Amino acid sequence: MSDKLTLPKPQGPVDGAAETLLSVEGLTKHFPIYGGFPIKRKVGAVQAVDGVDLSVGVGESVGLVGESGCGKSTTGRLITRLLEPTAGKITYAGQDISHASRRQLAPVRSEIQMIFQDPYSSLNPRQTVGTIIKSPMEVNGINPKGGIEKRVRELLELVGLNPEHYNRFPHEFSGGQRQRIGVARALSLNPKLIVADEPVSALDVSIQAQVVNLLQKVQEEMGIAFLFIAHDLAIVRHFSQRLAVMYLGKVVEVGDRDSIYNRPRHPYTHALLSAVPEVTLDDETEDRERIRLSGDVPSPIHPPSGCRFRTRCWKAQDKCATTEPPLVQISGNSANHLTACHFPEDPTTEARAEDIVLDPALAALEKEGE
Ligand SMILES: Nc1ncnc2c1ncn2[C@@H]1O[C@H](COP(=O)(O)OP(=O)(O)OP(=O)(O)O)[C@@H](O)[C@H]1O
Ligand code: SF4
Ligand SMILES: [Mg+2]
Repeated sequence: MSDKLTLPKPQGPVDGAAETLLSVEGLTKHFPIYGGFPIKRKVGAVQAVDGVDLSVGVGESVGLVGESGCGKSTTGRLITRLLEPTAGKITYAGQDISHASRRQLAPVRSEIQMIFQDPYSSLNPRQTVGTIIKSPMEVNGINPKGGIEKRVRELLELVGLNPEHYNRFPHEFSGGQRQRIGVARALSLNPKLIVADEPVSALDVSIQAQVVNLLQKVQEEMGIAFLFIAHDLAIVRHFSQRLAVMYLGKVVEVGDRDSIYNRPRHPYTHALLSAVPEVTLDDETEDRERIRLSGDVPSPIHPPSGCRFRTRCWKAQDKCATTEPPLVQISGNSANHLTACHFPEDPTTEARAEDIVLDPALAALEKEGE
């Protein structure tokens, strides 16, 4: 089996100055909650995504990171238009697709593909691998040179699978191989953007790196842009040139990878980074302490006023409850590094040790143990 990627040629620049392929402004999705008897009426809403601004350049990989339930998948599904936004604007290749109809979306649909977290449930168990990969081409009336079957075999080879396994069924493959099938299917329409929703979370750790490497090759050699969704910063570290950190439906910090890793300014990013084992922000401190966030993520039905992170933030002050912090450039940071915090972290990493405020319960336990 080969990991070699040969087709097609790069489609766009991958440098920082790449032109914008996708941009979302104020993207919002509120899922209504209905209650009451006998007449059901709307009694509230899950504010899953609440005013997200984000962009992805041609050929660029952007990581979208945050804890479970913060709205990452919903954001991905809005962008791929599997969900209808409540508000906000989605612009793809200069075209407003926020509320485009099925027919208007048809040409764009093939250019934006999604890879899902679970390679088991996202493949139809009754279809052969060949059928799974060729369906998107058939649905879109695409007839590649040399025929569809030849193209499917090329795609199988491209993702490191044996082209002879064309007639096998998904259950005959391992989890990592199934995710490769998902990648081949996503590539069948020559997409320009792939939204990969936690594509390796369901795989064994030993397999994760192989699939990430494959995706990285796809991104670099084929010039396909990625929105790579992950729940921690470890997996996107090598993959994404830019990172956006999400908390409870909002982007709280966004910037170039190095800037986010070396100068995290939002306390939540700080905490997430402290949980990434291989990241050493302070070279002299080998055994870096971890920030353990207290409590659970609040409900997106009743998010906290002001800054949504304030119920778990060790720096919260009165202003944090009354005024929502805007996503802005903080002095000392580069122009494309934006942070939503009234009292951002120090740009140097020296302040880290004293920032570390443990979960009160854990702190009490540690004190007892002394
Ligand atoms: N169809 C839906 N109807 C109602 N609420 C929903 C729906 N889909 C998602 N939600 C809620 O929206 C919030 C965000 O969910 P989402 O799946 O986008 O989060 P996530 O960041 O992808 O989480 P995870 O890491 O667990 O995949 C959650 O509170 C979730 O329960
Ligand atoms: S605005 Fe306040 S509560 Fe929110 S992250 Fe900054 S310091 Fe913490
Ligand atoms: Mg998700």
